[in-house]
Amino acid sequence: MARSKLLLFLTGFCVFHFFGYLYYTSQEYVRHLQALHGKTIYIQGTDDLREVLKEDSGLEAIARHSGSSVNLTKLLTHSGSKSSNFREKDSKGEKNSNGILRNVGSSRTRKLSSVIESQQEVVNPHDFPYLINEEYVCQKDGKKEEVFLMVVVLSSVHRYRQRQAIRQTWGTAINQPELKTKVVFMLGRTNESFHEYQVRKESEQHHDIIQEDFIDTYRNLSIKTTAVLKWYTTYCNHAKYLLKTDEDMFVHIPNLIKSLKDSGPKFHKFIMGSVIKGAMPYRQNFSKWYVSKEEYSDSVYPTYISGTAYVISQDLVSDLYQATLVTPMFWLEDVYITGICAAKVDASHVHHLGFQYFRRNEPPCNFANFITGHRIGQQEMRRIWKALDGPRWSC
Ligand SMILES: *[C@@H]1O[C@H](CO)[C@@H](O)[C@H](O)[C@H]1NC(C)=O
Ligand SMILES: *[C@@H]1O[C@H](CO)[C@@H](O)[C@H](O)[C@H]1NC(C)=O
Ligand SMILES: *[C@@H]1O[C@H](CO)[C@@H](O)[C@H](O)[C@H]1NC(C)=O
Ligand SMILES: *[C@@H]1O[C@H](CO)[C@@H](O)[C@H](O)[C@H]1NC(C)=O
Repeated sequence: MARSKLLLFLTGFCVFHFFGYLYYTSQEYVRHLQALHGKTIYIQGTDDLREVLKEDSGLEAIARHSGSSVNLTKLLTHSGSKSSNFREKDSKGEKNSNGILRNVGSSRTRKLSSVIESQQEVVNPHDFPYLINEEYVCQKDGKKEEVFLMVVVLSSVHRYRQRQAIRQTWGTAINQPELKTKVVFMLGRTNESFHEYQVRKESEQHHDIIQEDFIDTYRNLSIKTTAVLKWYTTYCNHAKYLLKTDEDMFVHIPNLIKSLKDSGPKFHKFIMGSVIKGAMPYRQNFSKWYVSKEEYSDSVYPTYISGTAYVISQDLVSDLYQATLVTPMFWLEDVYITGICAAKVDASHVHHLGFQYFRRNEPPCNFANFITGHRIGQQEMRRIWKALDGPRWSC
């Protein structure tokens, strides 16, 4: 009798620990995934892990950021040690009370002075004329208006409906004077006259479109972000923070502002978002993210921040823009701007867990400190907005 009870107990003990182990591994795995591609994925257990693995964007991100050497089995079994390694390296940095913020430290390769004083050759003049511009977004009655957060959304000419969804959801933050927020869209150009005509009409109606005369393609994204830095430097450099984001992102503006007010003053010359360390170029030439040795010769990318959304502090934007002028272009926008160019101007990377990808069909209120969500179509954007109770931003 006692023996069977013991057996039962032992079986229970093992089953409990087996699932506990699975649960633990999946948590660690996901944390590692986050380290790799900079988005937090909240999961409850192993079922969710399977879902995460099914999500194309998860795999896509692994493919893109970790290169051909990725081995999922290995990743899963070794993620524990790798994650703690990730943490150890960061422990020098500051941590706020919630533990959601980390200063990953500055990339002290070269100082700004060397960029400017050595008068390096300008390799990217970035002299594309404006096809559409809004020079007075950050002004009122001919004077500089106080702006806390300048949001520039990278958008494509033909994605009118996505822009409209932003204008009607999180973009309505511009109507709440206490948020001191502005939102504009940055576009390149297409060769389709119908869309070009439409976008001019749209601009006349909303006055929130900036369009530069370069061809709008995925491989030209670094040009587009440079356009953002240039535009801010020229027309809105009194705004305290610049948020660069994409048109498929949901941004919780009040949460972001609160976070910046709490933590911003602790750091100087920083970029805040999801920090990615130790990512490698994808060397298999059939991939969308294939990077040849000619394009990028090192085997590891410098520490950078996921391009889906990042905040740049006012004291850094102009330096960063100057750095792009003298730094050969690399088409992965986030690696180029927040990695390569940021290193030249001694920028700090601040890791914030609120910059995340969150799974579809999850009510947004489940996510504490939620700031951004990725891959949000226009309908989902409206759904999230509804769940947040519109401009009340009630969770
Ligand atoms: C992946 O890693 C596991 C565990 O380290 C190993 O057994 C397996 O052979 C690896 N697979 C490949 C394709 O390298
Ligand atoms: C636009 O450019 C693409 C290639 O870049 C070309 O295939 C297409 O025919 C062009 N369309 C027009 C209307 O010129
Ligand atoms: C990027 O834009 C420039 C300027 O319009 C253009 O000449 C170039 O072909 C574009 N590059 C790609 C890869 O689309
Ligand atoms: C891809 O790489 C293989 C071998 O390295 C080579 O034979 C092939 O021509 C390459 N394909 C392209 C499209 O560059």
